[in-house]
Amino acid sequence: MAIYSLNEELKRVKTRKNDVISLSVNTLNKNNFAMLTFYIIHKQTLSKELRCLPKLSDTLQVKDYTLRNRIVFPPMQSGRADFNGAITSKLINFYVRRSAHIGLPIVEHAYIDLLGKIGPKQLGIYDDSLISGYEKLATALHKEGVPAIVQISHAGGVANKKVIHNQPVGPSTAGKMRMLEVDELKNVVEQFVAAAERAVRAGFDGVELHGAHGYLLNQFFSPLLNKRGDEYGGCLEGRMRFPLEVVLAVRRRLGVDKLLFYRVGSDDLAPYGTHVEDAVVFSQRLVAAGVDVLDVSGGMCGSNPKQFKSVSGYFVSQAAAVKREVGVPVVGVGGIVDPVFADSLVVEGKVDLVAVGRALWRDVLWARDAFSCLGYC
Ligand SMILES: Cc1cc2nc3c(=O)[nH]c(=O)nc-3n(C[C@H](O)[C@H](O)[C@H](O)COP(=O)(O)O)c2cc1C
Repeated sequence: MAIYSLNEELKRVKTRKNDVISLSVNTLNKNNFAMLTFYIIHKQTLSKELRCLPKLSDTLQVKDYTLRNRIVFPPMQSGRADFNGAITSKLINFYVRRSAHIGLPIVEHAYIDLLGKIGPKQLGIYDDSLISGYEKLATALHKEGVPAIVQISHAGGVANKKVIHNQPVGPSTAGKMRMLEVDELKNVVEQFVAAAERAVRAGFDGVELHGAHGYLLNQFFSPLLNKRGDEYGGCLEGRMRFPLEVVLAVRRRLGVDKLLFYRVGSDDLAPYGTHVEDAVVFSQRLVAAGVDVLDVSGGMCGSNPKQFKSVSGYFVSQAAAVKREVGVPVVGVGGIVDPVFADSLVVEGKVDLVAVGRALWRDVLWARDAFSCLGYC
């Protein structure tokens, strides 16, 4: 049936004598028919085209850093820090085991201040006493041949009341949050900066700012939670203001050489929330403010929205829309488990890097086996 459809499809497009047809199977639809993508490449341009098309196993240069391939282990809170947020040998081992065959692990979100903590055994980066643990982790990651990047975060209104023993703070009084006053915002900016500086002092190559999944920076960006009447709320410009101030300040402190990633909440998945059009504008501003790589996720209630169960690449279309409008590498994420599908995302130029979270968590050799299945090793 799939072949019949393909033949029909080929009849519709004009092929010339020397054309080469390249096929890739992307995914299975709900009737289990393979969804095929085909490219028609004229033979005279074939070698040039092939040279230009990157694939999953290709390196990616970001500033002075060479990622050895396009697979990213996205930040995944592992519950392996201690109750004070310090790095443990269990946590180091968790990342070392998953780094051997990938391009980049992004270490799970680390809270920049106790008020921004969400889980009892969440990783922390709020105090200089934690730096020695990060030194060990950076050394271990470098030994595996990958850069060391840690995601730094403030949970804002979704901080865990039982853990922080306080009322969670946020952009406004929506839900159970206490609204952060303007003079408090400067302090939060400083906490992000101090956290980034700790990472770099420990030998890390950069940080990712957590601006997705309904965390504080995302709460400012989203009209669902940002109900402020001052310059930090209201229209898109106002809602972008605080995250952009954080980016500018962190970039200033990191200097030009270190890496700055931003995890963008690209779609609130709610009628009156943000949508990809807002994320595209925001992404352009983030890049102008100094972001090197955009990691595009979404959803206000966690990273794995129920409606996307079993959907492959559920935030990839948002990432592709962002990629079309910015000049920096973009990471796509969401339910990616099939190596052929992961490869097609890079080959087709939808994203530059593919994040594989739960699949790599379950199977530390996922990347090695993916390259073998794709015939890349
Ligand atoms: C157990 C767990 C922990 C996670 N921790 C984080 C985190 O620390 N920071 C973050 O931005 N996303 C976090 N995520 C979201 C993942 O990075 C990823 O976006 C999501 O799991 C979708 O990718 P996947 O389908 O490949 O797993 C977490 C997800 C899971 C399941």
